[in-house]
Amino acid sequence: MSIIRSIIRSTGGYLPENILTNAALAEMVDTSDEWIMQRSGIKERCIAADDETTGDMAVAAGRMAMERGCVEAQDIDGVIIATTTPDKTFPSVAVKVQDELGLPVGLAFDVQAVCAGFLYALSVADSFIQTGKARRILVVGAEKMSSILDWEDRSTCVLFGDGAGAVILERGEGDGGISDRGVLSTYLYANGGQADLLYTDGGTSTSGDSGHIKMQGREVFKYAVQYMSDVVMEALDANNLVSSDIDWLVPHQANSRIIEATAKKLKLPMEQVIMTVERHGNTSAASIPLALHEAVFDGRIKQNDLLLLEGMGGGLTWGAALIRF
Ligand code: ACO
Repeated sequence: MSIIRSIIRSTGGYLPENILTNAALAEMVDTSDEWIMQRSGIKERCIAADDETTGDMAVAAGRMAMERGCVEAQDIDGVIIATTTPDKTFPSVAVKVQDELGLPVGLAFDVQAVCAGFLYALSVADSFIQTGKARRILVVGAEKMSSILDWEDRSTCVLFGDGAGAVILERGEGDGGISDRGVLSTYLYANGGQADLLYTDGGTSTSGDSGHIKMQGREVFKYAVQYMSDVVMEALDANNLVSSDIDWLVPHQANSRIIEATAKKLKLPMEQVIMTVERHGNTSAASIPLALHEAVFDGRIKQNDLLLLEGMGGGLTWGAALIRF
């Protein structure tokens, strides 16, 4: 019996030109390359220009995904953007992307689940395709994290970067088994009781501005390792898979130590883990699709490879997706 599957047709990515190294950061706040590398694995990150918005980056990544997939604008009937740093409170980044890419009238909205945002957006897009609401959806994770950083707070400003990653998800068919191409299953969680661990100290209905990132780093680290490990094991167990069935782990890029701990739990060698954190820093909702795009672009990830995507962010929110590329 044939069933509907949402298949990743193509990927795209965009990183701002301006690179901020740890050495340059050490001239701004009391930190060092050694401390940042040892604690987070980050060497540098890209920072958007003052006049470059999340929407601009999302458009660039989306355009690349369209070009790489040879997809015409009129053949895309939806756009979902995962972001925490929209250009405006409203309208959404999604409507800007829809307009600038010349997409036809169709569904367009933003999803906000911070660093787990892309997993949430992907899961929603998959559901829309499965239920026949859309046939081909542009899904983008895009962030200008530099706009919500306190550049005098060394405990947070060294960790984040800007960028955008995109996929085009389209309706395909499979037989319902694990060898189908497409999104095989997704897992989404949130625990609002942990909102105080990672948040911004402002917002449109409170301070009237977007506020700045505040984080209890040690606590976030602890839960990240626990939740990531649990959710990847859940994804494997639910599909009767073992870790050796996975070709690539594509994790949210917050911290190399968190990624290594998850890979260890999976007993997956680091050679099968896509790592961009050293050069991108934590780009929040953009990090998973950017990592995916990079590994597809350089030929590591190939058609039919089994991918496990996972991430956690403020909320706390977390999730995973099992995908045959
Ligand atoms: N440079 C130098 N020293 C620093 C810096 C810095 N940039 N930042 C903090 N320190 C100091 C602290 O002041 C503290 O000094 P003290 O001992 O004199 O008080 C010392 O370093 C240790 O601080 P900790 O916060 O305990 O350091 P830790 O080893 O926990 O590392 C880090 C901090 C990197 C933030 C770590 O806890 C971490 O990675 N947490 C997870 C953060 C994360 O991944 N967030 C994102 C996930 S969710 C999302 O993506 C939105």
